[in-house]
Amino acid sequence: MNPVRSLRHLITDQDLSPNEIWKLFELTKELKESAPNKTFDLLRGKNLAMIFQKPSTRTRVSFEVAMNQLGGHALYLSSSDLQLSRGESIEDTARTLSRYVDGILARVFDHQDIIKLAKNSSVPVINGLSSDFHPCQALTDLFTIWEKRGTPHQCFGKGLSVSFVGDGDNNVTNSLLLLCARLGINLKIGCPAKYKISQGILDLAKSDILKNKVKIEIFSDPREAVKDVEVIYTDVWVSMGRKDEKERIETLSPFQVNKKLLSFAKKGAMVMHCLPAHRGQEIVDEVIDGPNSIVFDQAENRLHVQKAILTFLLKA
Ligand code: CP
Ligand code: NVA
Repeated sequence: MNPVRSLRHLITDQDLSPNEIWKLFELTKELKESAPNKTFDLLRGKNLAMIFQKPSTRTRVSFEVAMNQLGGHALYLSSSDLQLSRGESIEDTARTLSRYVDGILARVFDHQDIIKLAKNSSVPVINGLSSDFHPCQALTDLFTIWEKRGTPHQCFGKGLSVSFVGDGDNNVTNSLLLLCARLGINLKIGCPAKYKISQGILDLAKSDILKNKVKIEIFSDPREAVKDVEVIYTDVWVSMGRKDEKERIETLSPFQVNKKLLSFAKKGAMVMHCLPAHRGQEIVDEVIDGPNSIVFDQAENRLHVQKAILTFLLKA
C-alpha cells in the first residue's frame, strides 16, 4: 500500500489520511476473503510486542491471531511483568523493544504514555486503547458499517446517519468522532451534559468537520439523538480506570439502549457496541441479542481490520 517506507504510528485516527483509510478498508475486505494460509507471506518473520496495562479480550486475541495468520509472531507483555513495574521508563522500554521487534502495540491508562512510546520507538507503535482514544476500534466500526451497507468502492452511500448514545466523553466516542469527521459522516451524540464530548476533541476534528461539511450534534435527550438514524452505537458507562462508578451509572441510566429507544431510530437500524458490554446497564439483552444487533460481526472485524493495519504499518 505504501511503497515509500517511513516510520508510521497509529496513535489516533488522524494518523491516517482519508485515502489511506479507504485503502485500509479495501485491504481488510481482501484479507477477510483470503484463506489465512494464503496470507502467511505478508509478515513472515515479523514480531509484534504487545504491552497491556489494562485487561483485554478482543484487542489482545485479535492482534495475536492476526500476527499468526500473517506469518509473524506476537508477544503478550503484561506491564506488571515488565521492568516498567519496577520503574524503568516508558522511553527506555521503547528504545529497548525497538531493537528486538518490528512493531509495538500498547494499551495504556495515560494517553501520554503512548505518545512517549512512539517518540522513542524506531518501529511503528499502535494504540490498542488509551485514556483518550481507541483508533483500531473506530476503524473497525466504520469498516463494519461500510461492509453492512454494501456501498461501493470508497463511499458510504447516501443518507448514512450514526448516533452514539451514552458516555460521550470516552476513548471510543473520541475516536468515532475523529474518524466520522475524517470520512465525512454526520454524527449525533446523545449524552448527559456531565459526560459530553470535550471541546478539545471537537477542536482536534475542526478542520475535518469544516472540510467535509460534517454535522456533529449533541443531544441531552437520547430519543432525539437516535431519531431516524441508521446506526446506534453505545459503550460502557464506566470505562477502565474511571473512578466515579456510582455517579456515572445514575447519570447515564436514561441513556440505556433498549427496545423503546430503538423504536425511535430508522426501521432496521443497526446496533453496535465495541464490547465488553455491561448488559442491563448501557444495553439490554433483547437488543444486543436481537435482530438489529451487529455487535459480534463488529467484534469479528477487529481481526480483519487489525490484519490490514499490521500489513500497512509493518510490511517491508
Ligand atoms: N473492544 C475492545 O477493545 O475490547 P477488549 O477490551 O476486549 O480488547
Ligand atoms: N471505553 C471502554 C472501551 C473498552 C474497549 C473502556 O475504556 O473501558
